[in-house]
Amino acid sequence: MSHIHERAPASAAADWTIPQDWSAYTPQDHAMWDTLFARQAAMLPDRVVPEFMDGLDILRMTKPGIPDFSELSDRLMRRTGWQVVAVPGLVPDRVFFEHLANRRFVTGRFIRTPEQLDYLEEPDVFHDVFGHVPLLAHPVFADYMQAYGEGGLRAERMGAIDRLARLYWYTVEFGLIRQGDDLRLYGAGIVSSHGESIFALDDPSPNRLGFDLKRLMRTKYRIDDYQQSYFVIDSFEDLLRQTVETDFAPLYHALEGAPDLEVDTILPEDRIYTLGTQAYARGRFTKEDRLP
Ligand code: PHE
Ligand code: FE
Repeated sequence: MSHIHERAPASAAADWTIPQDWSAYTPQDHAMWDTLFARQAAMLPDRVVPEFMDGLDILRMTKPGIPDFSELSDRLMRRTGWQVVAVPGLVPDRVFFEHLANRRFVTGRFIRTPEQLDYLEEPDVFHDVFGHVPLLAHPVFADYMQAYGEGGLRAERMGAIDRLARLYWYTVEFGLIRQGDDLRLYGAGIVSSHGESIFALDDPSPNRLGFDLKRLMRTKYRIDDYQQSYFVIDSFEDLLRQTVETDFAPLYHALEGAPDLEVDTILPEDRIYTLGTQAYARGRFTKEDRLP
């Protein structure tokens, strides 16, 4: 979700989509998917929100190998009207929002190499498809993603993309959800990462705080390591209701000039699930690494 080029590369369509070219995947590529899939499928059932596991099933993503986007889109279309389309890499914000607003999820088509099993910088097809697509089979989450795209187009006109991007980061990518007395994962950036699937729920290091729209729009985030704070929603219905029923324009205005919050800040009004020790982050970052 950031921009590198202004115009679509010559090899892509005007909307930046390219063919997945499924037959070009090698047996090694498919084996890589299977390795990643097996590892996450084994550990996620009692950590992830059950709707995620349902999505894997409904979309037949349990089938071995990298999914064929046209098959996946057919199933998704019948269920919630979404499609999955391939793009060459990061696309401009406007292109990204435009696709979401039209119920198209853009994904990378390459898969990581064995050296990148646990960490890579750019999202690959495992992150994009395994991480994001299962919840697109959930009607409420599917509506949230479309509403986010529409909100993105609006935020762009108001010069507020940085604020809105934080909402995506702390929900779609790194969100936690409350289930009874338990917390569960639903963010795609967590569920596609073996290490963070454990860290986000079990480690005493990060803060886990109740979702608060305006607060979260002020909060910086880390793109280079595990998060230092996670935000917990009550339900997908509540997330959709709060975001759709709130006009963000006054929020954007109110936040103009308001200081950003650091990744580990705790406010008196925060609803605290876990007050993190931040021991992990302290071992990794010095003061000089503080985010700009
Ligand atoms: N309600 C938001 C606005 O007024 C739009 C939005 C909806 C943004 C859902 C994100 C998610 O801009
Ligand atoms: Fe993602």
